[in-house]
Amino acid sequence: MTMTTLREGSQRVLVTGATGTVGGHVVACLRDGPCEVCAASRHPEAATSRLNIPAVYFDFQDPASYRSAFDGQDALFLVRPPAIARVWTSIFPALDMAVDSGIRHIVFLSLQGAEANPFVPHRWIEWKLASIDVRATFLRPSFFMQNLTTTHRHEVADERTLILPAGDGHTALIDARDVADVAAHVIKHPKCGGGAYELTGLKAISYHTVARVLSDVLGQPIRYEEPSVIDFLRYSRRRGREWPFIFVMTGIYLTARFGLAARTTSTVHDLLGRPPRSFRTFAEDYAGVWAVAK
Ligand SMILES: NC(=O)c1ccc[n+]([C@@H]2O[C@H](COP(=O)([O-])OP(=O)(O)OC[C@H]3O[C@@H](n4cnc5c(N)ncnc54)[C@H](OP(=O)(O)O)[C@@H]3O)[C@@H](O)[C@H]2O)c1
Repeated sequence: MTMTTLREGSQRVLVTGATGTVGGHVVACLRDGPCEVCAASRHPEAATSRLNIPAVYFDFQDPASYRSAFDGQDALFLVRPPAIARVWTSIFPALDMAVDSGIRHIVFLSLQGAEANPFVPHRWIEWKLASIDVRATFLRPSFFMQNLTTTHRHEVADERTLILPAGDGHTALIDARDVADVAAHVIKHPKCGGGAYELTGLKAISYHTVARVLSDVLGQPIRYEEPSVIDFLRYSRRRGREWPFIFVMTGIYLTARFGLAARTTSTVHDLLGRPPRSFRTFAEDYAGVWAVAK
């Protein structure tokens, strides 16, 4: 990894995953300058009208889209789309092209514990980034609070229930907006770049606490059910979730159940000078999402 010096101030930043959870907030943090921000999306017109910034067509599965997306950019916020597992056939060639096109800093949305887990694609991407001629920053966040407004949105909104097999295990849930704030910070302050940052919420909480806070905030009881793994698999299928996604979710919630997702760090506070958002703040800010789900 080459430690090049980036200019403070006006860089051109390409944001992948800009229409997604973290990338969308990264755009919001960078939109008002001093960077020039551009969204990379498979649907650039929709991205432009939604985000109100320029967008370019970009698809990891379409190598013909790489060069025109990367040309003229200084930095890249890299999101591995959850559906892409074979990263060596699509993401690796894109990274080679990014460097060839002159991108000097790549901030990668990785995963807590990726450095010690050879089974996750994030580890392979980190390895790739460390082996090419670019300044790379790895953000390794814990599980997002926003999974409750995406994956679990409808069960909370429609059934007033949270159904997942985490038992009494605690998770150091982080608000994806804090992950995005850190990403924007390291992009804007290149001196902070080039390292790895493990990002978590302030404290680990159980899903009993999650349900209790949601009940308080929404003004109606939200029950936390702890199904067996088999029942969770059946329930997830009934909800229309795809098998690969169900297996990933099950693995994540069992990790929490066995007490392996509770580790916290002070990194958000250290970098941003303020504590990470609490789960209650998250629930209050997003209360309308559960109210309007159909
Ligand atoms: N959820 C968690 O708790 C958690 C925790 C730690 C790390 N992570 C990691 O965070 C990443 C996901 O971030 P997220 O939740 O912000 O994403 P997300 O909301 O799931 O959005 C996925 C984004 O990927 C883009 N995309 C999909 N297929 C693409 C393709 N073929 N080429 C280019 N772009 C494509 C989509 O953009 P368009 O449709 O506009 O193209 C979309 O903006 C994953 O790698 C995940 O493992 C998640």
